[in-house]
Amino acid sequence: MIQVLSVASECAPLVKTGGLADVVGALPGALAPEGVDMRILLPGYPQVMKALARDAVVMEEWDLFGGHANLIAATAAGLNLLVIDAPHLYDRLGSIYLGADGHDWPDNPERFAGLCWMAARIAADGVAGWRPHVIHCHDWQAGLVPEYLRTFDARDRTGTVLTVHNMAFHGLASYGRIGSLRLDPERFNPEGFEFWGRISALKAGLVGADRLTTVSPTYAAELLQPEFGMGLDGVMRARRDVLCGILNGIDEGVWNPMTDPAVTPYADASGKDANKEALRREFGLPDSDGPLCVVVSRLTEQKGLDLLIEALPTLLAHGGQLAVLGSGEGWMEEAFRNASQGGPVGVRIGYDEALSHRMMAGGDAILVPSRFEPCGLTQMYGLRYGTIPVVALTGGLADTVINASPAALAAGVATGLQFHPVTADALRGALVQLCDLYADRDVWTRMQANAMAQPVGWQTSAKAYAKLYRDLAPHE
Ligand code: ADP
Ligand code: GLC
Repeated sequence: MIQVLSVASECAPLVKTGGLADVVGALPGALAPEGVDMRILLPGYPQVMKALARDAVVMEEWDLFGGHANLIAATAAGLNLLVIDAPHLYDRLGSIYLGADGHDWPDNPERFAGLCWMAARIAADGVAGWRPHVIHCHDWQAGLVPEYLRTFDARDRTGTVLTVHNMAFHGLASYGRIGSLRLDPERFNPEGFEFWGRISALKAGLVGADRLTTVSPTYAAELLQPEFGMGLDGVMRARRDVLCGILNGIDEGVWNPMTDPAVTPYADASGKDANKEALRREFGLPDSDGPLCVVVSRLTEQKGLDLLIEALPTLLAHGGQLAVLGSGEGWMEEAFRNASQGGPVGVRIGYDEALSHRMMAGGDAILVPSRFEPCGLTQMYGLRYGTIPVVALTGGLADTVINASPAALAAGVATGLQFHPVTADALRGALVQLCDLYADRDVWTRMQANAMAQPVGWQTSAKAYAKLYRDLAPHE
């Protein structure tokens, strides 16, 4: 068995703000059949500490960036976890990233440096007879792992992979914190972890990890371009030889319309009717001959939902309806609340896992007009539930949907709609096409069946990750 330590700031079902958690939580189960023994290193947030079963302290750290920490080995939700119990860093109420004022916790650099430091110690010393051959780092929160492996002289014995789930978050800190973060000033330069005069945890990972991956092949290519590279496209070009895109899958145990406890189960799309009826009632929407569109999303600039607000009158004019579940930036929450005044539009501001399942089952179409999207999971949930995705042609959205072009329709293979460029106008065009396709029952039923049959699980990508780990640890 190859031993892999997955290092991340979130993990479903214990603690989640987005798709990163889903992926981190699904990987161990997906990789076990490939001969990978994966454990997950997580910060001991209150919701994680509460969920632990059969725990034991396996390591102590007297000063983890300002206080004592215990490393706890435990299982929860069927996952093998190593949890950092460090109350001074993680035991606080509210969001895992933001304080009550809506801004990052001021000590976020230290909080996630603590995560990386413990990962490096585990690689150096092992815990309870287990030492990782490979450390799999996720996003900037795990970016400092290669730096601290140097500190502990464990780099040569430990392979490292950094997966970019989102290039928009860099994990920046001022140079003044280099001492408190225990980083080597010699490496504060453009070839190291300096980013325009500041410390970048993401860049540390990008320059320091043996291999880089991102969560779709198209986003891997996009990251080489200034438009998507967020100032790090040059670094990505320099490291393109070690970069690859491995498409996310969905957890088919959790997202399966035949067994989903949150919905009226169904095996084919005709079974969606009862769910749609219930969803309409839940959102107070009247009957209609047009498609019921759903959105389940963080409400941020990335997701392009302001374009949907612009294009909404067109959807409604063609008989469409909209149900939105989301939370995020205040101005966008407000804009959706206002949009719900003027027609068959239902809006729920908040985070609600069970409702997100009911929306997947009850919607006719799911809208994902993102400006950029490293992979995106909701369009894949949509496919699995026969809920036709209407997506921007970018990142993983480009890799997971077969656009209803005339050729794809003629061949009977379309699974959704893609629009480009990512503008309100192009989205309007896609929404009109959606309403036309919906009105043609034969074509629509075919698309639903195609969508539900499209493979969206982890099988192929699990093999790709297992191969990557084996390449890095040939003598395990
Ligand atoms: P991102 O990670 O950029 O937010 P993804 O599509 O990869 O985008 O993953 C988003 C995940 O978060 C999905 O599992 C989605 O169902 C879930 N999600 C987003 N917003 C909400 C919400 N308001 N309520 C419930 N689930 C949500
Ligand atoms: C990020 C991306 C999203 C991706 C998810 C899981 O949050 O924004 O596109 O699906 O990570 O990899």
